[in-house]
Amino acid sequence: MNFDEIIDRKGSHCVKWDMMEKIYGVPQDKGLAMWVADMDFRPPQCIRDAVQAQVDHGVFGYFGDDSKYRAAIQWWMENRHGWSIEPEHIFSTHGLVNGTAMCVDTFTKPNDGIVLFTPVYHAFAKVIKANGRRVVECEMQQTNGRYEMGFDAYDAQMDGSERMVILCSPHNPGGRVWSRAELAGVAAFAKRHELIIVSDEIHHDLVMPGHVHIPMTAIEGIEDRLIMMTSTNKTFNLSGSHIGNVIIADPDLRAKFAARMMALGMSPNAFGLFMVTAAYSPEGAAWVDDLIAYLDGNRRLFDAGIKTIPGLKSMDLEATYLSWVSFEDTGMAREEFTRRVEQDACIAVNHGPTFGKGGDSWLRFNIATPRARVQEAVDRLATAFGDLQ
Ligand SMILES: Cc1ncc(COP(=O)(O)O)c(C=O)c1O
Repeated sequence: MNFDEIIDRKGSHCVKWDMMEKIYGVPQDKGLAMWVADMDFRPPQCIRDAVQAQVDHGVFGYFGDDSKYRAAIQWWMENRHGWSIEPEHIFSTHGLVNGTAMCVDTFTKPNDGIVLFTPVYHAFAKVIKANGRRVVECEMQQTNGRYEMGFDAYDAQMDGSERMVILCSPHNPGGRVWSRAELAGVAAFAKRHELIIVSDEIHHDLVMPGHVHIPMTAIEGIEDRLIMMTSTNKTFNLSGSHIGNVIIADPDLRAKFAARMMALGMSPNAFGLFMVTAAYSPEGAAWVDDLIAYLDGNRRLFDAGIKTIPGLKSMDLEATYLSWVSFEDTGMAREEFTRRVEQDACIAVNHGPTFGKGGDSWLRFNIATPRARVQEAVDRLATAFGDLQ
């Protein structure tokens, strides 16, 4: 796979490149799209072949027999994550924003509190609010430039109306791979406050060399309150396939979720099923290994560039391809540093405040793009903040 290839995505109905002018005012002709979390790479050939085989067959009827699909998911979790799952524990939702919404809808009631460790992936709060539940923001602290959770403070914040905690593991936007002790801390916190844990592990394959992701299922004593969410969308760049997996081992939680899926008449798109089955394979695994090596190179280049610009600081990415950059030390107001990035450097990025408390002086840069573009972004930022040199 040649990750250096520049693929022109403009005009392909991709939100990342085709909507940056409308949403951020970044001109499409010279803009760099570094916001939405999808990659500017094609997925591995095995996935494209699987889709092509369906297109060549040419009849697009109802799908039947998902045993190969379930077996592929089982194989991947066992081989890549040391996590044994039963095929019948798997549900297929329309991606994991939908998976989150399904969990919120199934396991909580209107006005219940749902805990988020902020700053965190913005769609969690959107979905919670849209379902008439309350977001309980537990702000993370920074220790040695990394996010950490502070459970003593969170304990004091709880008022007994909370029913669920949604964990982002690995963490978007801070790039943390949580340690076993930290995950055990989340588990103990959930037990103390009788919370269901939804562990969104969509970024679990995108872990940088030297770090190891631990699935939440490895933590004992929470089997009866744990819901896992995984997907091929980030790992293989298949977000348009709109398929995700909610995996539930506990029989009671599983029965409730199954009943809600049934009530809403939910069933997956056949193309998504074919893509996932092809992705979770030895060929897919080899591609992911190459991808990680490439992203690690991008991360190093981006971080080195950011370091040379006074006032800018990027968090160390242990996982994900989403670099979280602080502008606090520029001393500039948020409007000013954002204007420089969007209007002077012409880079479309995600704004920090959308990630909740603690995000104010930050912007999120997506570095899953050919390396030449990462270099271009760094050069543009150096110019846009050149007066600080
Ligand atoms: C933590 C997290 N969960 C879910 C999603 C979106 O998942 P999907 O496209 O499957 O709805 C993202 C996308 O960036 C994400 O970062």
